[in-house]
Amino acid sequence: MTPLLELRGVSKAFGGAIALREIDFVLGAGEIHGLVGENGAGKSTLMKIIAGVHTAYGGSMHLDGRPVHFASPRDALAAGIGMVHQELSAVRGLSVAENVYLGVQPTNRFGLIDWPAMMRGARGQLDRLGIDVDPAAKMDTLALGVQQLVELARVLFSGARIIILDEPTSALSPPEVQLLFAVLRRQRDEGRSLIFISHFLDDVLDICDGLTVFRNGSKVADARTAEVDKPWLIEKMIGHTHGELEESYTGALFLDSKPDAPVILRAEKLSLAGAYADVSLEVRAGEVLGIYGYLGSGQLDLARALFGKLPADRGRITIDGRPVKLSSTSRGRAAGVAFVPESRRAMLFADAPVFKNISISILRRIGRLLLHPAVERRIAARHTETLHIRPPGVDRALSSLSGGNQQKVALARWLTHLPRVLVLSEPTRGMDVGAKEDVVHIVRGLREQGIGIVVVSTEPETVLSLADRILVMKKGRIVREFAGEAVSKDRLLAAA
Ligand SMILES: Nc1ncnc2c1ncn2[C@@H]1O[C@H](COP(=O)(O)OP(=O)(O)OP(=O)(O)O)[C@@H](O)[C@H]1O
Ligand SMILES: [Mg+2]
Repeated sequence: MTPLLELRGVSKAFGGAIALREIDFVLGAGEIHGLVGENGAGKSTLMKIIAGVHTAYGGSMHLDGRPVHFASPRDALAAGIGMVHQELSAVRGLSVAENVYLGVQPTNRFGLIDWPAMMRGARGQLDRLGIDVDPAAKMDTLALGVQQLVELARVLFSGARIIILDEPTSALSPPEVQLLFAVLRRQRDEGRSLIFISHFLDDVLDICDGLTVFRNGSKVADARTAEVDKPWLIEKMIGHTHGELEESYTGALFLDSKPDAPVILRAEKLSLAGAYADVSLEVRAGEVLGIYGYLGSGQLDLARALFGKLPADRGRITIDGRPVKLSSTSRGRAAGVAFVPESRRAMLFADAPVFKNISISILRRIGRLLLHPAVERRIAARHTETLHIRPPGVDRALSSLSGGNQQKVALARWLTHLPRVLVLSEPTRGMDVGAKEDVVHIVRGLREQGIGIVVVSTEPETVLSLADRILVMKKGRIVREFAGEAVSKDRLLAAA
C-alpha cells in the first residue's frame, strides 16, 4: 500500500550546522502520528519542510506516491497540508474571526467581505473546539493558549487532509487538552492524517496511533504506540532515564512552605472586571508561590497585574510594606518586579543575537555605554552554559534556536539581574524533560538567593515541580491553597 506521505533521506543544514540527517518518515492515511525528541532535535525543521516553509533540503518527498517539492506554504496548503506553528503565526492585530478565515473570507453577492457570515462561521468553529471567545476580539488581547486554539481552528477547518500540530497543547490544561483530543480523533475518523508534536509524552501515548523519535537531527526509532511505553520513549529520546523528574510527576510531593519568611509582595482584594475578583495573596522571600488554574481562570491576567502590564481595576499591592501603584511595566520594573511571559514572541528580539537578548536587562539597569560587548558576551555565555542552551554560541540569531531553547534564553535574561519578585508565566512551555529539570534547578537557585518567585501555569507538573505553596484559581477566584502538606497531580486537578 502506498503511504499518504513519505520522506526519503531528507537532510537539512543551516549554514554549516546539520539540523536533519537522512530522515525517512512515513505518514499513513487516517492516522495520528506523534513526533518526539529533545529541544533542538529537528522536529519543527522537518515539519517546516513538509509544510513548504523550508524549500531547500536534500532527499525527496512523496505525496500519494508522487514526488512533490513545495515552493511555499501556500503551495503545500494547495496540496492539502496545513500546519499550526509552535511560534504562533496569527496576525495579532486582526480579530479572531479574521484569523479563522485568514485568506478565505466569505464574501456577499457584492463581492465584499460578509462580516456577519464570518462572525457566525467563526463562532460555530470555535464552539466545536469548546472555545468561549468573542469572534470580534483582537487576537493580541487573548491569552496565548486561546490564540493557539484559534489558529488550530483555522487549520483544522481549512480543509487540509494532512494537519501538522507543533506543540498545540503547550499552554492548555488537562480538560482543554481532552476537548482538543476529541476534535483530533474526529478529524482522524473522517480520514484526515495528523502529525502531533509534543513534549507531553503521556499525551503522545494517549492520542497517537504511531510515533517517531528524533535525537540530535536523526530519526532513532519509530513504533506503533500500543507497543511502547513512556520509559521506552524517554530512553530513545535522551539515551538514559530521568528518575527524579518522573517521580515528581507521579508521586505525592510534600510542600515545604515558609510561613515565617518576610512578605515581599502583598496583594489585597485585587479585581479586574471579567478576569478575576477579590484576589489576595502574599509572596514571601525565598519562596516559590505557584498559581494553578485552567486556561481562562484569570491567573494569567493576575500575573500581568503583579508586573504592571495589565493593572487591576481595584485592590492594592504593597512591596516590602510600601504601597505601590503598578500602572505600567516601567513602574513594575522600578518596584523590583520582573516578568517572563508565556509568549516569547512578546519579549525576545528574534533577529538579535542571543547575547543581546540576555544582556538587555543589565543594559536597562546600568546603561549601554558602561557595558563592554565582550563583557556582555561573557555574561551571556555563562548563562547559556548553566541553562544548557543549544547550540551554545551567543552570537547566533535568536531565531535560529529551537523553540525550547528560545524559552531558556527568556529565562536567562533574569539571571543577570535579580529582581525582588520574579513572575514566571508558563516557564517550561515547550521544554523537553531535561530542560524542565534545568529550570527546576535554576528556580531553586534563585529562591536560595531570597527573592520571591511566582510561577503561574496551566500545567500541573510545572507548579508541582517548582512551587513551595500552591494557590488554585477557578473562574477568577482563589479556591484552594496547598501549603505544608502533601499534594499530587490528582488533588490539584480535583481542586481546579
Ligand atoms: N532558521 C534557522 N537557522 C539556523 N538554525 C536553525 C534554524 N531553525 C532551526 N535551527 C537549528 O536546527 C536544529 C533543530 O531545530 P528545531 O527547531 O527543528 O528543533 P525542535 O526539535 O523543534 O526543538 P523544540 O522542541 O525546542 O522546538 C536546532 O539546532 C536549531 O538551532
Ligand atoms: Mg520545535
